[in-house]
Amino acid sequence: MINHLAFHAQGKIQPDNIFLVGAKAKAAKAKFGVENVTDASVGILLDDAGKMALLASVEEATRRLRDDEVAPYAPIGGVAEFREDVVSYLFGHIPNRQPVASIATAGATGAVFLAIWNLLSTNDMFITHDYYWSPYAAIARNSLRRLALFKTFLPDGRFNVAGALEETQRSLEIQGRALLIINTPCHNPTGLCLTLEEAKSLKNGLVEIAQRYPSAPITLLIDAAYWEFEDPAQNQAFMSLFQGLPENLLFTMAYSTSKSMTRYGLRNGAFLASGATEQQVRTVIDTFESSIRATWSNTTRMGQSLFSKLYRDPQLWAQLLKEQADFAALCNKRGETFMQEANQIGLPHTPYKKGFFVTLPTTKSQAVSDRLGELDKIFVVPLKKGIRVAFCALASGQVPGLAARIQERFEA
Ligand SMILES: Cc1ncc(COP(=O)(O)O)c(C=O)c1O
Repeated sequence: MINHLAFHAQGKIQPDNIFLVGAKAKAAKAKFGVENVTDASVGILLDDAGKMALLASVEEATRRLRDDEVAPYAPIGGVAEFREDVVSYLFGHIPNRQPVASIATAGATGAVFLAIWNLLSTNDMFITHDYYWSPYAAIARNSLRRLALFKTFLPDGRFNVAGALEETQRSLEIQGRALLIINTPCHNPTGLCLTLEEAKSLKNGLVEIAQRYPSAPITLLIDAAYWEFEDPAQNQAFMSLFQGLPENLLFTMAYSTSKSMTRYGLRNGAFLASGATEQQVRTVIDTFESSIRATWSNTTRMGQSLFSKLYRDPQLWAQLLKEQADFAALCNKRGETFMQEANQIGLPHTPYKKGFFVTLPTTKSQAVSDRLGELDKIFVVPLKKGIRVAFCALASGQVPGLAARIQERFEA
């Protein structure tokens, strides 16, 4: 075969495990009936009737959108109202905050991509935890960047702040810059949420490194794709920590409305940057804007209009917050029930706090996942470090007893 692909593009094709297992689960449902299948593979929030969890406030706001809020191209960096609103939503409570700006992106994925592309050079590495959302590796490969991993957890289950800091320092020594990506709260695929204490020691550690390498740019990117599944007060306290940073330490976020508004298909999100100076923040945001022009041109207008329609209507916004809290409680309760049972029977799991997923560590994840699918019609995603159980996709009634059923087929 004559290969038309340029050298850098060759060898990228990777089967997507999540979609492969999803397809198997779908086939099993068609063959054996939905009620006989436990599908813990999909990363989409379903209600207890197995239907997509939709939010009435979001539906109502969608109905209220005018044609001119949907049909025209959005400005390259996003609709001005959306850019303001997303800053106000995430940073608005912080008094005397340092300069912050946002840009609309194609989901959190778009934000992560822009950061990896623009904050690093070819062959540079970015740092993340060794349990990570697999598209990070695909983005690295596609952008000709590399991943540097640190152990996510300490032996006692706390987040490994020291590991993150060591890798940051190593990155500075090797390439003179560092990009540290941390997915919190409700980390995919473990359910990790950084505590305030962990976040504080991460911040202090980064500030200390930044002071030791005063001319080296360091960026912390918080991948906040599951932001609304954590308690809002906890989130606000987390955000307030990252203030008064030295000029070479930039705090950034990848935000998404895929999960928070259960509008995965809208591809709406934002990249936010907060730093010591206005000019520094502007330069990053404006550079990202030129990247957007050169890739997807501009971001879907509808998602941005929808966010602002909700945010600017106090009644709809209050309703949204209530609905989000209810869905978060539903999903987190499923996780809690599973954890209680897993702990009772000694099924190993990553330290779960909240969110869509937990991972059960095993070196035989493919075999365990296959066995569960074939013998018990239980579908879970095999990852490098374990099998991922998606609470978001299970009906609450399917959770009791699930840990014991998995344990029967489990092998570390
Ligand atoms: C950790 C993590 N980051 C980012 C994303 C991407 O979200 P979006 O749909 O906004 O691109 C996901 C979606 O599954 C995710 O799990």
